[in-house]
Amino acid sequence: MRHDPANLPRHVAIIMDGNGRWAHQQGKPRIMGHQAGVSSVQAVVRCAGELNLDALTLYAFSTENWQRPGPEVEGLMGLLKTYLENQLEQLVQNRVRLRTCGRIDRLPNQVRRILENSIRETAGNDGLILNLALSYGGRDELVRATRQLAARVAAGELTPEQIDESTLAAGLDSAELPDPDLLIRTGGERRLSNFLLWQLSYSELYFTKTLWPDFGREQFLAALTDYQQRQRRFGRVNEPPADT
Ligand code: FPP
Repeated sequence: MRHDPANLPRHVAIIMDGNGRWAHQQGKPRIMGHQAGVSSVQAVVRCAGELNLDALTLYAFSTENWQRPGPEVEGLMGLLKTYLENQLEQLVQNRVRLRTCGRIDRLPNQVRRILENSIRETAGNDGLILNLALSYGGRDELVRATRQLAARVAAGELTPEQIDESTLAAGLDSAELPDPDLLIRTGGERRLSNFLLWQLSYSELYFTKTLWPDFGREQFLAALTDYQQRQRRFGRVNEPPADT
């Protein structure tokens, strides 16, 4: 079955899991799995752009990932930096606009600088929004948004009664993006791992055993086709009640 170009998700979010296991299967060090994963990132970004999706959010580094061994963290930061350096031209050419969510302030200075530069250079683009979740945790994001609201209440700008879903959502890192319609997780696990806890409330979930380095255009299109078989009800009933 092929995907229907008229019924595509606007925003897809991906938990790119399985790099370590892929490397292990090949008898290679873990970082080689992450390196192979960069090719999958390129394939999926290109495909999402060609399909004219509005946004693609990639979980590239979580708040918990800081606890990995130092060399792996350094390796991942290095890959991110190289990706941004090598891909900037391509991103600009493909009209991709880069943005991030998460604690960018915790990234090494060198990575942060190149990231900020790439965001600036792509700011005027009107194609796919590529949202990289970096040093990101869903709970951390909610705590930060709550703190902002508490500060506004303390300053007398807002009453507790004025806090509703929209005031809280406005304080989230990805406030300007629509909620993801589809979440893809590769690597066989079926959990959210602290990713976009607020935004995924009504997203369709797609889990595949394919390890991230083996995930490319074909697997991405298969996920979109699967999404198109779903009936999204957002907590409502599908049909109006029949007259009795
Ligand atoms: C999870 O696999 C993956 C990560 C923690 C990092 C993902 C990073 C990349 C794909 C490369 C850099 C990203 C960009 C955007 C250029 P894992 O290590 O947990 O795999 P495992 O569960 O098999 O051990």
